[in-house]
Amino acid sequence: MLKSLAAVLAASVLATPALADTVVVTAKRMLDVDSGRMLDDPLVVITDGRIASVVTRNGGRPNIPANARRIDLGEATILPGLIDMHVHLTSNPKYGGYSRYQFTDGFWLAQGVGNAERTLRAGFTTVRNVGSDRYDDVALKQAVDEGWITGPRIVPAAHALGATGGHCDETFLPPSYDRKSPAMGDSPDELRKRVREQRKYGAEAIKVCATGGVFSRNTAPGVQQLREDELRAVAEEAHFWKLKTAAHAHGADGIKAAIRAGIDTIEHVSFIDAEGIALAKRQGTWLGFDVYNTDYTLSEGAKNGVLPENIAKERAVGTLQRENFRAAAKAGAPMIYSTDAGIYPHGDNARQFAVMVRFGLSPIDAIRSATTNAAQALGRTADVGSIQVGRYGDLVAVAGDPLADVTLLERPVAVIKGGERVR
Ligand code: ARG
Repeated sequence: MLKSLAAVLAASVLATPALADTVVVTAKRMLDVDSGRMLDDPLVVITDGRIASVVTRNGGRPNIPANARRIDLGEATILPGLIDMHVHLTSNPKYGGYSRYQFTDGFWLAQGVGNAERTLRAGFTTVRNVGSDRYDDVALKQAVDEGWITGPRIVPAAHALGATGGHCDETFLPPSYDRKSPAMGDSPDELRKRVREQRKYGAEAIKVCATGGVFSRNTAPGVQQLREDELRAVAEEAHFWKLKTAAHAHGADGIKAAIRAGIDTIEHVSFIDAEGIALAKRQGTWLGFDVYNTDYTLSEGAKNGVLPENIAKERAVGTLQRENFRAAAKAGAPMIYSTDAGIYPHGDNARQFAVMVRFGLSPIDAIRSATTNAAQALGRTADVGSIQVGRYGDLVAVAGDPLADVTLLERPVAVIKGGERVR
């Protein structure tokens, strides 16, 4: 019978083993981020993009196929590819305030292609994009995954949800321009629907704005903008669909409401108080303090067209945020690496490590915030965040000991994504 013959042929094609692509990476040392220990003479075998084996000195040598490619990183130290939990790949810090309205809509996606490449080449092999227009971050992710452009693994959140007139709405234009974000909701039910819409068109995480912010007009960072039942609706609906959640929250009340509502990661966290820190610790809520970008905004913002009112808000937020980061670090609160790249240039993502260390986090915990912790917060411990069998072959190499000098992470000597060297 013709049908069964076809079935037999199909089965035999499937049974033919495809030639596996194997890459062997060697270096002088490897930072094991889980234990915090430095190991000598690592050899990492990556087969078809995933780590097949990891051995270090005296660990024996695995069977390596004769056709395996070699990447010898010499004297370098390898660690897992880094993860930035808060980027906006389609944003560009050069166009602050009203200057952004000079461009057509597709401009943002077009320049986002270069931002994705810069981010990856900086050692960030995975990013969570928490807010973009027109599902542009979904488009970037798809183009990276299909191999048309070079970029990190992208977890897109699509549009950020929020209250009408709040930080995540369009706040710069008068009513006759009638421009509003498509993801605003003003009741628990409306917000549930917004979650479903974002997911329908490709969101793999949900971002919500719980308080006002720095770079919007007519919003105050310290003031809550969604009620706790609204935030709870967002968290519940997202979790129902198996999506993780992130809340933009500067003010202490908004932070605590978001934590109690069950949001997984709090972004900015600027005015968190002792009660909020205790709550985050108790509930295991991840805190993503973007403590570097203040420096960029205060030195370059005005030149880039950022309005005086936004610069004033930055001044009010930045110093306190760093002091509160210090308190949270001291208390041992769960930390993730959230930079808000897009507010400052893409590719400079690693500059935040030094600020985190300056304000009290140990170098290993700063690195964990961008590797093991971030993978947990993404729910992606099977894929990213650690050099372990089964995970993607995502590695970054630096010239020395990053525990002695975290700024080495700003100058990676090699970046490997899925076994492909991209730097
Ligand atoms: N997107 C954030 C906002 O507009 C950026 C805050 C940056 N400032 C800071 N100190 N973290 O609110």
